[in-house]
Amino acid sequence: VTEKSAIFIIFGGSGDLAHRKLYPSLFRLYKSGILKDHFAVIGTARRPWSDDYFRETVITSLEDYFEDDKKIMEEFAKHFFYQSHDVNDSEHYIALKNLAAKLDDQFETGHNRVYYMAIAPRFFGTVAEHINSEGLKTDGYNRLVIEKPFGRDLDSACELNGNISKAFPEDDIYRIDHYLGKEMIQDIPHIRANNPVFEKALNNQYVSNVQVTLAESLGVEDRGGYYETAGVLRDMVQNHIMQIIGAVASDDPKATDAKIIHKDKTNLFNSLKVLTAEQVDTDFVRGQYDTDKLGDQKAYRQEDNVAEDSEIETFTAGRIEFESDRWSGVPFYVRSGKRMPAKSSRIDIVFNEKVADLGIKANTVVTLLIEPEDGNSILINGINYKESGQDFIKFPEEEEFDSAREAYESLIIDILSGNRVHFTLWDELRSTWKYIDSIRERWDSQTPDFPNYLSGTMGPDAAEMLLERDGNSWAWD
Ligand code: BG6
Repeated sequence: VTEKSAIFIIFGGSGDLAHRKLYPSLFRLYKSGILKDHFAVIGTARRPWSDDYFRETVITSLEDYFEDDKKIMEEFAKHFFYQSHDVNDSEHYIALKNLAAKLDDQFETGHNRVYYMAIAPRFFGTVAEHINSEGLKTDGYNRLVIEKPFGRDLDSACELNGNISKAFPEDDIYRIDHYLGKEMIQDIPHIRANNPVFEKALNNQYVSNVQVTLAESLGVEDRGGYYETAGVLRDMVQNHIMQIIGAVASDDPKATDAKIIHKDKTNLFNSLKVLTAEQVDTDFVRGQYDTDKLGDQKAYRQEDNVAEDSEIETFTAGRIEFESDRWSGVPFYVRSGKRMPAKSSRIDIVFNEKVADLGIKANTVVTLLIEPEDGNSILINGINYKESGQDFIKFPEEEEFDSAREAYESLIIDILSGNRVHFTLWDELRSTWKYIDSIRERWDSQTPDFPNYLSGTMGPDAAEMLLERDGNSWAWD
């Protein structure tokens, strides 16, 4: 392991994301030696906390995830500092700058800075601009990390991007899509590159359809306020589902250079067939959860911070098409929802009859299981690929699964290494927002008949009909 040196400045350092995801991931990196002596974390937020109090909160959240000796946690927490901060107050950025400079000397962090936005999106632009204007940037690297949501439509995303790109060059911006940190998603290019027959079959000659399902059993929990501004289309489809399709359908899985990989994905997203209003009506279904069969669970409209007559969708299923030599004519069915029967994230690639020409059984279905991770995550016709009797697809390196890292842990390593492969670039966002906006606009002009599915079910019937109409059916049902 090579030790990395940097100061993390975490905006929103007292918040939920930081405590649930970032600190545990930093701690894992600490235990593995990737972070060791030469790093420090400055948490900033409005509340007036002391360093000691901040450290206690960090240790308390670590204790939820780890059983390590408290001593190691305390050693780790010594690298944590707190600075109370008002995002609009220039003085506070100066204070932050001075603290960072001091810690730079103390921990010899090589002037490297990671500015991590774990705050409400409306502050992203302001903070980025102040970092720049108050001279926080150093002669080391200065990387800006941005959590989702990146805008709520194309216009707001453009505006946000305009603001942050005044302060940071695109090459220093790391937009997080945590699905890109997941092991299986990262493995897809390797699987494609190392299984030539499978790769040869991945196009409109041999693929009948592709299905991406991101199903969750939970409801919105305590995030009603945010969810009311989003809905599943923005929350899961614009980002995670599109990025998954990017991994499966882009042209050049052998590429290793970040620029080429992103160019490839951008090309794919640029070939999205944007839907007309009438096509939205036929090709996209939306739903909102009701209580369950027994009436035990809260309907979405009864959740905290949700309007009683909310028209926000908690389920969607749709049919996406591309206009390209490779994919024209192949439907990509996507589906995501809350309160479905189980947590399941999967990609099902359904081949047609012609695939027999390549030595693959006609109508074979290859399933890439993203979650739950059970160690054998490729299925062929529902059977673990090793036992399937078909050998056109296998994992290039079995052991890759043993070292499965948490998504955030792997993304933080990438940030520290300057590897932008697993982040979302602006050009990709522009195309995917444009696509999503056409659906959103149509939906916003109509009144949905909500709620329209019971908690614990597969969503409204229309989601089944969407495929039946084409003579297809969901592989997961
Ligand atoms: C987040 C969404 O991006 O992804 C949540 O905002 C969703 O609504 C979550 O629950 C799902 O992520 P995962 O990793 O649990 O599949």
